[in-house]
Amino acid sequence: MKKEFATNLIHNGEQSQDSVSKSKTLPIFMSSVFAFDDVETLDSVYEGQSKGYVYSRNGNPGHDALKEIMCSIDEGEDAQVFSSGMAAVTMSILSLVKSGDHIIADNVLYGGTHQFLKDELSKFNIEVTFINVVEDNIEKYFKSNTKLVYLETISNPLMEVADLTKMSKIAHLHNTKLIVDNTFSTPIICQPLKLGVDIVVYSATKYLCGHSDVTGGIAVSSKEFIQNIRNISALYGPMMSPFDSWLLVRSLRTLELRMMQHSNNALKLAEFLEKHEKIKNVFYPGLKSSRANKTAIKNFTNNLFGGMMSIDLYAGERGAYELIKELDSIKFVPSLAGVATSVSYPVKTSHRAFSDQELFKANISKGLIRISTGLENIENLISEFDRALNNI
Ligand SMILES: Cc1ncc(COP(=O)(O)O)c(C=O)c1O
Repeated sequence: MKKEFATNLIHNGEQSQDSVSKSKTLPIFMSSVFAFDDVETLDSVYEGQSKGYVYSRNGNPGHDALKEIMCSIDEGEDAQVFSSGMAAVTMSILSLVKSGDHIIADNVLYGGTHQFLKDELSKFNIEVTFINVVEDNIEKYFKSNTKLVYLETISNPLMEVADLTKMSKIAHLHNTKLIVDNTFSTPIICQPLKLGVDIVVYSATKYLCGHSDVTGGIAVSSKEFIQNIRNISALYGPMMSPFDSWLLVRSLRTLELRMMQHSNNALKLAEFLEKHEKIKNVFYPGLKSSRANKTAIKNFTNNLFGGMMSIDLYAGERGAYELIKELDSIKFVPSLAGVATSVSYPVKTSHRAFSDQELFKANISKGLIRISTGLENIENLISEFDRALNNI
């Protein structure tokens, strides 16, 4: 029978990938579901006897390519990818705690993570104690029901660095797991699993992507922990789109080069800003004068310290507003880690949900500007900051 328009439109073009040569780059598997020849094949995929895919909420070839790269550079056994960094954070936390449990968390964390720990988990009767993981004696805060310690490799926005080897030993002595958000460092600078951390989480939106065009998240850990995370993620459903996983695979090809250049530029910029008369304090773990420097050298590899820093202005809140206006090619954006240098104002962006008291406790001042150092020529960068600072 002659095939009519509707049939041709629906079924033609399905076999266009038949070819003796292969695509040079990973194709985009833009398919929400996969087709099977028979029930036996579907069964064998579900039972793990054959390698295959069923439904993209549970897995997609693009996700697997991304996981393979992340496991290799983080030295993890398995990984899970998500539609955002917050999904990686929340799914990883929820995989380890239940009603009645207790968590110890750093009081200087990305604002969304802080809000989830403080406001959302209380609904599930999960208690969280916020401490300063660098200054406080963490031993004092463990309880019989403590299940998790949560911190960031380089804290947002004050760039504090906790000793991860020490933290993981203490957590394990108390039969507690340690999750670390490694977004600011990436595995190029720090490999937390090698230091004893149980689960590493990332906002892939930042350096792993690096081009400000993907929102995503990744968790890397042992097979067992990732299986638990995968089980609940399939139910909550915050999955990465196949296109975003393809963009991230493309981005990861240049991660090492980018992190080296972000770090080299940031160190030179921090050394310049440290001497500037308009600036009270520069928070950058690569500076010899930074209190984070010694621990950073211990935790980090390759003598790189990343692209993130914060500056505290003598002119306070007014100075912060003016600096943002004065900067020209350096844009004010509530994110970080793109190829272009950008600035953010934590009290109005990432830490907007913090009360004045919480900001004070976390030492986040209204004169604090966070800088994400990009890949531009360093002399041009320094000159733009110098001109803008001199005008405030
Ligand atoms: C350190 C850190 N972790 C997690 C997140 C959340 O990631 P996302 O915005 O991709 O959900 C952010 C976002 O800025 C972050 O800076």
